[in-house]
Amino acid sequence: PEFRADISSVEDLIDENTIGLVGIAGTTEFGQIDPIKELSDLALSKNIFLHVDAAFGGFVIPFLRESYEFDFALPGVTSIAADPHKMGFATIPSGGLLFQDSSYLHRLSVDTPYLTVNSQQTLSGTRSGASAASAYAVFKHLGRAGYERIVQRCMELTYELVARARESGIEPLIDPVTNVLVLDVPDADSVRSVLKTRGWDVSITRDPRALRLVIMPHLTRENLNLFADDLADVVK
Ligand SMILES: Cc1ncc(COP(=O)(O)O)c(C=O)c1O
Repeated sequence: PEFRADISSVEDLIDENTIGLVGIAGTTEFGQIDPIKELSDLALSKNIFLHVDAAFGGFVIPFLRESYEFDFALPGVTSIAADPHKMGFATIPSGGLLFQDSSYLHRLSVDTPYLTVNSQQTLSGTRSGASAASAYAVFKHLGRAGYERIVQRCMELTYELVARARESGIEPLIDPVTNVLVLDVPDADSVRSVLKTRGWDVSITRDPRALRLVIMPHLTRENLNLFADDLADVVK
């Protein structure tokens, strides 16, 4: 399986009560990208909304060598979530929600004539702007070139780890699309426990159970090779 949305099953699930579709660009467990173009076409043909959850992928996909259609270039995409606090490297909890048309944001407006602004689009009034400021600061600091450099290095390390895993007879469940690598090892839960005794704390996917690694920029080639050595030893 490709671990991404099956467009015909999405179509089968649409009925007269369906107001919108959601596609994920950079899934949490597999880093996979749903077929957003097909979802966009479907949303347009049914005249419903399409939200793209690019919480993780929003700050990865634009900087990959391969190009994927996932954003407002597709006319059916009506909103996108992209989290600066994930691969945008800003502080938690900065999140981003983008609308194709500002009128969608106005639908969320709450009248607040008793405040300095007459209307706002969130339920909480007074709140910290620190995380938004952190996101702005990182965008200015890194720029597109900075994100590109970081994402491409993460992808290089991801592919290198795939190659090392294959040397030990371990296959990834999918060829990594983003910097999430899921390795198909027999009895993943025990492999994970043994790795933990060696100081490696890895996550695990739910179905199937497999080792899940997110190759973030703080990782070094040297450490990933040490990890690959231990993994080879544990599964042999
Ligand atoms: C695809 C995806 N969507 C949403 C979330 C949740 O993100 P938030 O931090 O905005 O709650 C995650 C977190 O892992 C994610 O991977």
